[in-house]
Amino acid sequence: TGLVTLDPGFVNTASCSSAICYIDGDAGILRYRGYPIEQLAERSSFIEVSYLLIYGELPSQAELDDFTHKISRHTLLHEDLKRFFDGFPRDAHPMPVLSSAVSALSTFYQDSLKPFDSHHVEISTIRLLAKLPTIAAYAYKKSIGQPFLYPDNSLGLVENFLRMTFGFPAENYDLDPTLVRALDQLLILHADHEQNCSTSTVRLVGSSEANLFASVSAGINALFGPLHGGANSAVLEMLEGIRDSGGDVGSFVKKVKNKEDGVKLMGFGHRVYKNYDPRAAIIKKTADEILGKLGGDDSLLDIAKQLEEHALADDYFVSRKLYPNVDFYTGLIYRAMGFPTKFFTVLFALGRLPGWIAHWREMINDPATKIGRPRQVYTGHTEREYKSVTER
Ligand code: CMC
Repeated sequence: TGLVTLDPGFVNTASCSSAICYIDGDAGILRYRGYPIEQLAERSSFIEVSYLLIYGELPSQAELDDFTHKISRHTLLHEDLKRFFDGFPRDAHPMPVLSSAVSALSTFYQDSLKPFDSHHVEISTIRLLAKLPTIAAYAYKKSIGQPFLYPDNSLGLVENFLRMTFGFPAENYDLDPTLVRALDQLLILHADHEQNCSTSTVRLVGSSEANLFASVSAGINALFGPLHGGANSAVLEMLEGIRDSGGDVGSFVKKVKNKEDGVKLMGFGHRVYKNYDPRAAIIKKTADEILGKLGGDDSLLDIAKQLEEHALADDYFVSRKLYPNVDFYTGLIYRAMGFPTKFFTVLFALGRLPGWIAHWREMINDPATKIGRPRQVYTGHTEREYKSVTER
C-alpha cells in the first residue's frame, strides 16, 4: 500500500492545485485571482467579485449586467420549499436551516443530479447565488414570527437581502446606503479563502461527483463550527461575557494563557496567517466608521480593542503568532446592523458562497481530480480470535 504520511489537520498537505485564491500567511497577503483584497474591498462589488471568482476574470459591463440579470430572475423560492421553514422549531439555529434548505434544492431541481453537464453547472450556479439570500432572510423571518417577503427583482443582491430580512410587506423599506455598502464589503472580504475547512469539505463531497447543492450544503455545515465561521458569533458572546463580568480584560487574557477550561481568545489565530489578517485590518476600520454611523455599542468595541492591545503585547500570543482574524470585529458590525448573534455565521455563508462554487467548478474541470479518500495510520488491535458471547 506504499508509505503513508500522518498529517493531522492537513497542516502540510496540499489537496489540490488551484488558481483562485492566493494567501501569503507570513506577509499577510490575500488576493482573489491575483487582485489584492484591499483593492477589491475598496472598489469592487460583491456581485462583481462573485463573477471574478467563478469565471476567473473581472466582467465587462455587458457581462456584469447579464450576470446580475440572470441572478435576479432566480431569487424566488418554490412555494413548496417555503413550507419547509414551518417544519423547524421557532428557535432553530439558522445555519442548519440554511444547509437543509440548500440540500433540498436538489429535490426541486432534479436536473442538478447530472452535476457535470455544463448547462446544469451553470444554472445550478445561478440558482444557488440567487436563492441563498432568500433562504437566509426566510430563516430569520421564521425565527421572529414575521411574514416572508417575496424578493424584488428591481433591487441588487444585497439590497434585496436586507429588504427581505428587515422589511415588512405592509410598508416600504428604506434602504440605508451606508448599511448596503458595509454589508457588500463584508461579503467581498469573506468571498474566498482557498482550502479552508468548509471549502475543502465542498471539494471532498463534490469529488464523489455529488452535485453542487449537496456539496455546498455540506460546506455550510462545516462553516457552522466555532473554530471556523461560528467564531464570529462566539466572539460577540465572549465580549458580552467580559462586559457582564465587570469588563476586566486582563484577567480574561490570563485565563486564556493558562488554558483554563479550554478558553480561547475567539477571533484570534489562524492556520495560515502568522501575521495580521489583512481582512481584519480592513474590518477594524469599518467597525469604527459603521459603529459611529449606525450607533452601535461602543463599550463592546472598546473591550475588543483592549483585548487586541493586551494580546499583541503579550508573549503568549506574540510567540505563537496569534493575531486578530476576520471574525474578530465582524460581529460588532453585524450587531450594529441589527442582526441577532445567531445569524452572524449565516452572513459568512452568504459571503463564502461564490468561493465554494468557484472551487467546486475548478475541481470538476481539473483532469487531475480524483475522489477524495485520505489514508490513515491504523492503531487498533492486531488480528484476534472471535469468542462467542458465553466465553467473553
Ligand atoms: N486563543 C488562545 N490560544 C490559541 C488560539 C486562540 N484563539 N489559537 C491558537 N492558540 C494556541 C494553541 O493553543 C496552540 O498553543 P500550544 O502550542 O501551547 O498548544 C498554538 O496557539 C497553536 O494553535 P493551533 O491550535 O495548533 O493552531 P491551528 O492552526 O490548529 O488552529 C484556529 C487555528 C483558527 C482553529 C485557532 O487559532 C483557533 O481556535 N482560533 C479561535 C477560533 C477562531 O477565531 N476561528 C476563526 C478562524 S478565521 C476564519 C474562519 O475560519 O472563520
